[in-house]
Amino acid sequence: MEIDTTRPHPARIYDYLLGGKDNYEVDRRAGEALAAAAPEARIGVRANRAFLQRAVRHVVGSGVRQILDIGTGLPTSPNVHETAQETAPDVRVAYVDNDPIVHAHANALLSSSGTSSTVLADLRDPQAVVDHPDVRKVIDFDEPVALLLVAVLHFLTDAEQPRRIVADLRDALPAGSFLVLSHATGDFADRSAAQAVYSKATATLNLRSRAEVEPFFDGFELVEPGLAQVPFWRPDAPPPARSGEIGFYGGVARKTG
Ligand SMILES: C[S@@+](CC[C@H](N)C(=O)[O-])C[C@H]1O[C@@H](n2cnc3c(N)ncnc32)[C@H](O)[C@@H]1O
Repeated sequence: MEIDTTRPHPARIYDYLLGGKDNYEVDRRAGEALAAAAPEARIGVRANRAFLQRAVRHVVGSGVRQILDIGTGLPTSPNVHETAQETAPDVRVAYVDNDPIVHAHANALLSSSGTSSTVLADLRDPQAVVDHPDVRKVIDFDEPVALLLVAVLHFLTDAEQPRRIVADLRDALPAGSFLVLSHATGDFADRSAAQAVYSKATATLNLRSRAEVEPFFDGFELVEPGLAQVPFWRPDAPPPARSGEIGFYGGVARKTG
């Protein structure tokens, strides 16, 4: 596999901000530039990760036993299947990412005993994701699925039609399925400098307002408290300092019809 160390990758920048080791000099420089442009960036990525865990506990607690995690990121403990299997050891997870580095690391660390599979595929081709044999190996689309789109849709431009993509994925899911989504926003602070950091990366950062994020949930019913800044979505600990500035919306919703 050819590893591109000349341009920062979103997964490796995120890994660096989370304190991980799977990143290169070019990613660390981008991570530092991001932290300089958005002082709460490190708190924000941790808060996003904590949201992901609370949301996974919620959907598994609601009875879902299969998770389709698109935009997995580099393995970060606890990983989705570890959090899910604390509640229900029979939960199966398909991890999907379009970054070959993520795929290689995920393959080594996340594939375990037939309950998870790792898939190299692109969210921009949702049908290919749904039809992928390694997704089908662990996900039965006749049973409720939790679709995770956590901190990934902001890497799609409007021209790439993220709403259509989410709608196509929704249509592949039966009633009783869940959507777990988080998305970067500039609603709480000017983040144009942070956006500029990604202009040299392998994917651009497309901040969206509340009014632009809400329609991703069309066809789903948001569970309480609705779309919230991630630290305020069903917190299980006091929100960290600077939570009010954190530029991530998060929400969990159930497909009813
Ligand atoms: C910021 S990380 C989020 C990781 C994890 N979901 C979380 O929230 O902790 C975003 C991930 O989305 C992946 N990604 C970006 N664009 C993608 C696409 N078009 N298809 C699949 N994955 C994509 C990146 O490679 C990266 O691993």
